[in-house]
Amino acid sequence: MSDEYKIPNHVAIILDGNGRWAKKRGLKRSLGHKAGFDTLKKLSDYIFKRGVKILSIFAFSTENFKRDKEEVDYLMNLLVKKIHDLIKEDSNVKIIFSGRKDNIRDDVLNAIEEVEEKTKNNTEHTLNVCFNYGGRADIVDATKKIAEDYKNNKIDINNLTEETFETYLYNSIPDIDLLIRTSGEIRISNFMLFQAAYAEMYFPETLFPDFKNEDFDIALDIYNKRDRRFGGVKK
Ligand code: IPE
Ligand code: IPE
Ligand code: MG
Repeated sequence: MSDEYKIPNHVAIILDGNGRWAKKRGLKRSLGHKAGFDTLKKLSDYIFKRGVKILSIFAFSTENFKRDKEEVDYLMNLLVKKIHDLIKEDSNVKIIFSGRKDNIRDDVLNAIEEVEEKTKNNTEHTLNVCFNYGGRADIVDATKKIAEDYKNNKIDINNLTEETFETYLYNSIPDIDLLIRTSGEIRISNFMLFQAAYAEMYFPETLFPDFKNEDFDIALDIYNKRDRRFGGVKK
C-alpha cells in the first residue's frame, strides 16, 4: 500500500443533530438549524480547501415534510434567505440541487434556480445540495425517464448499464468515497442509495452544529486507515 495521504474525491454528509443541539441548550429547534447552517458555511469552505472535489449534503429529505409546519417553514425560509451565502466570489464552486422540484414553494424554487444559474460555469468544486431528496425517489424518477426515452426510441435497452443508469439520476456525479453522518445515528435514512454503494462510512457522535473543521480532519484520518477492496482481494 502506498503511504500517500488520500483525499476523497466525493464526500457526503448527512448533517444530523440540529434539533438535539438546540434542545440541549433549551432553545427552539429552529435555532439548531440556524447554527447548523453557520457550521455548513465554514465546513464546506474547509472541505474544498482540503482538496475534495465534490461535497454532497443532505439538507432536507422528502420525509422531513412530516415535521411540524413551523419547522418546515423555517427550513424553507432559511434556504431562501441564506443559500446565496454559500456562494463565495473567489471559490469557483458550482452549486447543484438534487431532489424533487415539485411540491416546493415558488420562492424556494426560484432561490434554487438562481444559485444554480449563478454558479453553473464554476469548475473547480461541486456542492450538491440534496433538498426534498429521497434516494429511492431518485432511482424511481430515473427509471421513469428511462422508460420515457425507451418509448421514444432514444435508448437501446441493451446499452443500459450501471454507468448509463447513473446519468438519469437527479445529477450525474461520481460515487461517494466518504459518507459522514453526525449525531451518532447509524443509518443512512434514504440518502444517495445508488452512489453510496461502496462509500466508506463514518458516524461521529458530534451534533452537526458542533462539527468543526478539525472533526473533518479526524474523518480524513479515519478514511485513510480504511482498506477499500471493492470486492477484490488485496495483493
Ligand atoms: C438535521 O437535524 C437537519 C434536518 C433534518 C433538516 P435534525 O433536525 O434531524 O436534528 P435532530 O435529529 O432532531 O437532532
Ligand atoms: C436525515 O435526517 C435527513 C437529513 C439530514 C436532511 P433525519 O433526522 O430526518 O433522519 P431520521 O428520521 O433520524 O432517520
Ligand atoms: Mg435528525
